[in-house]
Amino acid sequence: MKARKITPLITFGVMSMVFFLVSGWVSAAQDGKPSPNHAWKDGAEIYAKICAYCHDVQVGPPIRNRELSPDYIRHMVRNGNRAMPAFRPSEIDDESLAKLAEFISHRSTQP
Ligand code: HEC
Repeated sequence: MKARKITPLITFGVMSMVFFLVSGWVSAAQDGKPSPNHAWKDGAEIYAKICAYCHDVQVGPPIRNRELSPDYIRHMVRNGNRAMPAFRPSEIDDESLAKLAEFISHRSTQP
């Protein structure tokens, strides 16, 4: 019976594929969440993943296209203000914060 001999092979193949898919999915899920020393791609990514959570839904005031100064934005992010949370360098490092402040302070036509 040929089929009996191939069955374990197929089982093994399917199992390793499932393992491959699951491990890929798990690492993709980890990539998506900010962790200490997470390297942010650019200001737009930080805005979309952190700030938009409040500032695009009227929990916080709109901050884009208002030409707020990068210094003011950096100060707010590091120190917070009432309902505005402060972010530590382990969450947004200085370099990323500079990019974020640039991104927010520049007038853009993007929605
Ligand atoms: C948990 C919700 C929340 C998140 C997340 C958040 N903010 Fe805020 N933010 C607020 C609120 C609420 C205020 C208004 C605070 C006040 O004046 O009482 C505010 C105020 C500000 C202000 C001052 C705006 C003004 O009109 O003077 C800036 C700048 C700012 N946030 C930047 C940011 C940036 C940059 C991020 C992303 C790193 C961010 N915020 C993430 C809630 C949030």
